[in-house]
Amino acid sequence: MRHPLHLCCALALFPLAAAAQQKTANYDEAAIPPYTLPALLKTHSGRPVQSSADWTALRRPEVLGLFEAHVFGKTPAPAVWGKVVFETLSTNENALGGKAVRKVVRISLPAHPQWKGIEMMLHLPKGANKPVPCFVGVSFGGNEAVTPDTDIALSTSWMRPGKDNGVVDNRSTEKTRGTEKERWQLELAMQEGFAVATYYYGDVEPDRNDGWKEGLRAILSKDGALTEWKDGEWGAIGAWAWGLSRVADYLQTEPSVDGKKLAVIGHSRLGKTSLWAGAQDTRFGAVISNNSGEGGAALMRRNIGETTAVITKAFPHWFTKTYSSYANNEAACPVDSHMLVALAAPRAVYIASADEDRWADPKGEFLAGLLAQPVFDLFGKKGYGVSDQPGTNVPVGETVRYHLRAGKHDVTRYDWEQYLPFARHTFGL
Ligand code: GCU
Repeated sequence: MRHPLHLCCALALFPLAAAAQQKTANYDEAAIPPYTLPALLKTHSGRPVQSSADWTALRRPEVLGLFEAHVFGKTPAPAVWGKVVFETLSTNENALGGKAVRKVVRISLPAHPQWKGIEMMLHLPKGANKPVPCFVGVSFGGNEAVTPDTDIALSTSWMRPGKDNGVVDNRSTEKTRGTEKERWQLELAMQEGFAVATYYYGDVEPDRNDGWKEGLRAILSKDGALTEWKDGEWGAIGAWAWGLSRVADYLQTEPSVDGKKLAVIGHSRLGKTSLWAGAQDTRFGAVISNNSGEGGAALMRRNIGETTAVITKAFPHWFTKTYSSYANNEAACPVDSHMLVALAAPRAVYIASADEDRWADPKGEFLAGLLAQPVFDLFGKKGYGVSDQPGTNVPVGETVRYHLRAGKHDVTRYDWEQYLPFARHTFGL
């Protein structure tokens, strides 16, 4: 079913029902019912997890399995999708006013020709004399929305119209150009010596409840004529995260990029996606969650802002079917978001909130990083270094890092100004 749009929020795409919920949601800390979080450092059989080796060999696979079974669903095995091929569609040696080389590469699956593939856009800093580290992200708009340049082909994938996003009849138009350029600080990244690889999430699956029918999930399903998703099978977030890993595959073959220095990044629903991509794919040495909220970094048990009941009603397609059973029943869920953050350990994680983004529960996002710390401790990795949420625009932490930006639900230059040195530090640059 398609929903009318909430019009006062450009690119923050959500159904009207969810918009109304934002107004009536609980924002009172005192009204959060008491909760107990699932134990991080104890195995299913009750054995305490006492070392990094215990975590890696015993508990991490269990926690990953719990997120597959209860939240995002299981990503199909490589044999299901088969060979991945890369074809360079265009190269511009003078992108971003001469500051970057830009390549567009199609990533596709020869065993599944019905899928037209991902059109990945890679910006490389011009004149780098060695392979560069790279941010890997997924965007709400097509490549033409991400770059300020106007010579890039318009995406032909399905898109949801939004206020000022230039989408007409569910397709991109010239007006779409540059609409996400503030969210992707490409010039700043180039200046700092980082490449940026992005892809439009709709290349993998249109973001609507029945979008899977036209997306990769249907194509890879066993009979290709699926009628219903079963418990534990992957949702759209899983599919978008899969796309991030295929971009990482390509980057291992790209001589200009250091494939061992990849930072995965996403905002909001795509921040949930970057956390899940980072949890599954350890090639991402840094994991960045920007305002990921419910189903992302925010603790589901806090019941503040967006709740499990609201998200699973408005966006059931994002998750595996089982997740809906935790609506108004969070205590029964065997995981919470501190465990999702812990899956990144010992790699680096940056959780970012915005102080006006109450829907995403900034405090719940902060707490997930704090409560994941025991796992980072096993590896001798430093976290926030504070136990109270810091004030606005005061970043804290090291391997686990956090900031609360002033302003709305968005990705801004301020956020990138924090992510770039964080990535530099993480990669020892
Ligand atoms: C809605 C949804 C959030 C999501 C956000 C976004 O607000 O309720 O969970 O993060 O959309 O992706 O913009």
